[in-house]
Amino acid sequence: MAKKVTIRQVANEAGVSVTTVSQILNNKGGRFSEKTRNKVLAVKEKLHYVPDFNARNLILHSSKMLGVLIPDLGNPFFSSFVKGVQDYSRDATYMPIVFSANHDANLETYYLGKLLEHSVDGLIIASATITAEAIDKLVKPLQVPYLLFDQNQIANLADRIEVDDYHGGYLAGQHLTQLGHQKLAMLLPKDSTVNVCERLRGFKTAIKDAGLPENNLVEINANFSMEAGYQATKSILDSGVSAVFCADDLLAIGLYRGLEERGLKVPDDLSIIGYDDIDLDQYVNPKLTTIDQPVAEIGRESAHLLVNRLEKPDIDRQLIKFPVKLIKRESTGLKK
Ligand code: RIB
Repeated sequence: MAKKVTIRQVANEAGVSVTTVSQILNNKGGRFSEKTRNKVLAVKEKLHYVPDFNARNLILHSSKMLGVLIPDLGNPFFSSFVKGVQDYSRDATYMPIVFSANHDANLETYYLGKLLEHSVDGLIIASATITAEAIDKLVKPLQVPYLLFDQNQIANLADRIEVDDYHGGYLAGQHLTQLGHQKLAMLLPKDSTVNVCERLRGFKTAIKDAGLPENNLVEINANFSMEAGYQATKSILDSGVSAVFCADDLLAIGLYRGLEERGLKVPDDLSIIGYDDIDLDQYVNPKLTTIDQPVAEIGRESAHLLVNRLEKPDIDRQLIKFPVKLIKRESTGLKK
């Protein structure tokens, strides 16, 4: 690794103290003459000085880094979430370090340990599989503040951001039953996390409120990916339903391809509603009806709550629940 120029070398070359250099380079040099400030800045450029991040951390006992653990960076929902985290972190002068372990619990625990080794100041755990045990074993002993999102399985008092997933499922069920659909399917991962189970619970309530028997609902399992949605096509068609609620948009978009390959039309042959409202929804044909989660805002607020906790450790537990809304497009229609 190339040997970095030190702040002491800059100070010696400029003929001032290390403290003077530090204050001028951190925009706190107002009490020095313009001549001194310009001299220090000129030497910094001449020597190509770059502040040593690790040395700075040791002095300030803060890395100004936030660890972010998500299930799948390839999923547009989570990439939008990370962008929201990044937007807030930049303005708050923190740097996010993101790890994506693709739903692998062991790999997520490994990455959690790596983030802690990098002395992140705090963690945003948007994982669906990090266990309470991993948090108790790895995070709590180090007293690193953390915020939970999408990971509603840990019933503890950490700061948390939730989404009104029950209402999201209800809106999906209400929308489809109001279109006259009576035999419906829900496509969702096996052993779903609590937030997805809440979508199912809301969907079931809407079906019941429409006066339909519970066995008019068929649950079919598929993990959150377009491939899984595509592979589920046969099961969906064999179930004889006229409408499907996909627990995320990627499943819906994968199902599109399965139907198209069989010469079937959306919504004429099958109505489909998704969940998340990722940008792709408006670029598939027909445009996908879905339930919107304000994911970029959720990302920003996740970073905001964590920074709040870092700067005011003794504040009360922070809990925010985001609303959802139905986005009607073209993939749902009247029961034929
Ligand atoms: O698409 C990924 C899904 O996993 C989203 O609905 C998000 O809420 C998470 O549960």
